Amino acid sequence: MAEKAPWAPEFAYRGGALCVEDIPLAAIADEVGTPCYVYSSAQLERRFREFAGAFEDVPTRVCFSVKANPNLAVVATLGSLGAGADVVSEGEFRRALAAGIAGNRVIFSGVGKKASELEFALANDVYQINVESIPELEAVSAIAQRLGKDAPIALRVNPDVDAKTHAKITTGKKENKFGIDLAHARAVYRQAAKLPNIKPVGIAVHIGSQLTSLRPFETAFRRVAELYRTLRADGIAVDRLDLGGGLGIRYRDETPPAIADYAAMVKRITGNLGATLSFEPGRAIVGNAGVLVSRIVYVKKAVTHRFVIIDAAMNDLIRPALYDAYHEILPLKGPATKRGLKEAEIVGPVCETGDTFAKKRMLPTVAAGDMVALMSAGAYGASMSSGYNTRLPVPEVLVRGTNFAVIRPRPSYDAVLAADRLPPWLTVK
Ligand code: LLP
Repeated sequence: MAEKAPWAPEFAYRGGALCVEDIPLAAIADEVGTPCYVYSSAQLERRFREFAGAFEDVPTRVCFSVKANPNLAVVATLGSLGAGADVVSEGEFRRALAAGIAGNRVIFSGVGKKASELEFALANDVYQINVESIPELEAVSAIAQRLGKDAPIALRVNPDVDAKTHAKITTGKKENKFGIDLAHARAVYRQAAKLPNIKPVGIAVHIGSQLTSLRPFETAFRRVAELYRTLRADGIAVDRLDLGGGLGIRYRDETPPAIADYAAMVKRITGNLGATLSFEPGRAIVGNAGVLVSRIVYVKKAVTHRFVIIDAAMNDLIRPALYDAYHEILPLKGPATKRGLKEAEIVGPVCETGDTFAKKRMLPTVAAGDMVALMSAGAYGASMSSGYNTRLPVPEVLVRGTNFAVIRPRPSYDAVLAADRLPPWLTVK
């Protein structure tokens, strides 16, 4: 049963209960309350080791993309295995540092880094800044001069490749805001090499997220490898290639490339370049390591549909509302048998029709009070959550074998309300 699960063997039914590693999810949810995110350390570690292990024979840095799951405990778990971090803000940079990942293992990505953030990165000896425009390059140069440091930079190039993923998470087409057009990259490197305190060390590329085929990666990487050779011939001493993240996972019935096949493809293309590689995987490491556990509040038989209303909502997990993303939904008591499945609309309590997790989903007969797990929610779940509808921020739990720990408690209503301030001209009785 466990090995057949499409998401991760660390989540499996045992004795009628959906377990994470050695603990029934219901036991955690009863103690922590619902909704709550639950992550498996074993799956996190296994996926990171698999990724890093696939590149063991070439100089490689695997920098976990913190935006996928920024919880300090998650980042620290990966950091302790040797992961670096890919960050897109000073906040994420600070998280990496707080999780024990030194600045010289951090890649700073993003299209709109502010001066204060660049300064923070340089002051913390950032491994590499992935620069996405000429104005940014000039800003980095000015700040580096002021700090009296050399800034190690890569230009993030835009290879104009269709990643064949959701339009909202495609980043490598020329009409996207990301990167520097490949055709101009050579000239921009020349310009960069002349700018004070700028040290061009590599080339970066990232064409999108949740890629389920190797082909777009391969096209992009070939273009980048060619640029690498051209730059070296031009006398620009780049020696790093940052190939980004984007490797997809299985949510339903996708067949994303195995990490080993991805690695073999990369080595085929970059093998003779002598470059140090870096990667920025997020989802591929953490996506299937987490679930969102929720309790059914009501089952409502309306005119046309049976609505299963759960206590998680779009503010806790926005992927279905934002990308029409599919998340498997499993009862904590199970497994469900084919007989007895009934069609349901699984929705949250938020006052928007978009607050829908699944339409026409076959669910076993469930009743108010039962719990379900929204699977594959480890990446871009908690990290994209908000306080919409003044719902309490969703807590997070990390499991390790038979132990679990709350790695982000649910705050009290008082704490949430205390974050607002009344102006001096208003008093409330
Ligand atoms: N590197 C860069 C520069 C990125 O922009 C991203 C993701 C990554 C690495 C990590 O990509 P991954 O390996 O996780 O695919 N919220 C969306 C995904 C947004 C991805 C943004 N950039 C979702 O829930 O599907």
